[in-house]
Amino acid sequence: MAIRLFDFLASLSAALDLMSPEVVGHHKRVAYIAARLAKRLEAGGNERADLFMAALLHDVGGFSRQSRLAALSFEADGGRHAELGYRLLRTNPLLESAALIVRRHHTPFSQFSRLDEPARKLFLAGVLNLADRVDVLTFRQDKIDPAQVLARLAPRAGEQFAPPVMEALGSLAAEAEFWEPLGTPDPVAALQDDAELFRARGMSRGQLGQASSAFSQIIDFRSRFTATHSRGVAECAVCLAEKAGMPAGDLTAMRLAGDLHDLGKLAVPTEIIDKPGPLDEAEKTIMRSHPEVSEGILSRIPGLDKVATWTTQHHEQPSGNGYPHHVAGPQLTLGSRVMAVADVFTALREDRPYRTGLNLERVTGILEDMGREGAQDPDMVTLAKENLPELDQRRREAQARAAEDFRQFYAGLAPGRPGAMDRADG
Ligand SMILES: [Fe+2]
Ligand SMILES: [Fe+2]
Ligand SMILES: [Fe+2]
Repeated sequence: MAIRLFDFLASLSAALDLMSPEVVGHHKRVAYIAARLAKRLEAGGNERADLFMAALLHDVGGFSRQSRLAALSFEADGGRHAELGYRLLRTNPLLESAALIVRRHHTPFSQFSRLDEPARKLFLAGVLNLADRVDVLTFRQDKIDPAQVLARLAPRAGEQFAPPVMEALGSLAAEAEFWEPLGTPDPVAALQDDAELFRARGMSRGQLGQASSAFSQIIDFRSRFTATHSRGVAECAVCLAEKAGMPAGDLTAMRLAGDLHDLGKLAVPTEIIDKPGPLDEAEKTIMRSHPEVSEGILSRIPGLDKVATWTTQHHEQPSGNGYPHHVAGPQLTLGSRVMAVADVFTALREDRPYRTGLNLERVTGILEDMGREGAQDPDMVTLAKENLPELDQRRREAQARAAEDFRQFYAGLAPGRPGAMDRADG
């Protein structure tokens, strides 16, 4: 499974944009602007690659709609989502440099000298800061007026923006070809040889695993009642896949699929995810769109075919009554059937705002009913029952570790939005 870091991050950044339909394409446009600025500033290849990755993910810490809109508003202090983005990315060795840049992408240049952080990272954060503001100022405009953009930003050079970075923007802004790609769906494609430079960064399997586990936090941490869900599903899915005799390579893919299975929920507004009561029909339709959204993102990443299939099919049923594609019986892959049982098992065992986790007897009872009704693969239900103590123990440990990560993630931060509510949608 050879995956390019760039392909993975570019797809995930598209997923992030789903959280903010107001600004589709924001991450890619900012990545393009930042790359052009860094080149004009003669930053080295490694620094440009770090900056590019940081730009692709820079608003990753904006979980709630409220905080994303704050990040976009021109006077936003943005400190909280920048810090959360840093905390999400710093645990991944591939993204450590990018994490430092993300952390300071709203910090005014005038405060850099007071920070005990690497000077070049701060410099790159300053580039990202300006690139972000350029997009916020221009993204809705049919015809960009470079003079107006500069007039708005230049007075803040020295205070908000580093003067050399502002100068680089001034020289780029005079070139029409700099602005043209911003009106296209994929401005990154216009970077040509730079895009190749970034593409060359590969990922080992272990690194891919770390990247996807970081992403599971982005999916889960939006609501404190789902904060450990994906990691629990991943552990249960790997356990069942082992018992089903799946080969080692598939176990790696299964963990990724578990981490990412609810990726499409990023496109579901938190207002729906957090709704304390039952969903109405329109809300259900939106909620049920999440496997198809995941499919749209993951199926574009070369090398992740199985992960994409299992993720897309985790709400399908052997009877054909599942969604999104009503795949039935033998057409459902073994991995998808594993994932479906792992998802429901984990969801039922978890505490929810309106109930504590169901006991094992009740959970197996529900799964057996589902097996009889064609909602789950009966063989997979049997396999889960045969390995119940181990399955549940591994789930509990994985979710306890995730809960500790969640606690540390918010440690020392002022509380944001009050704890969100959720239902057992799996
Ligand atoms: Fe941004
Ligand atoms: Fe789920
Ligand atoms: Fe799901």
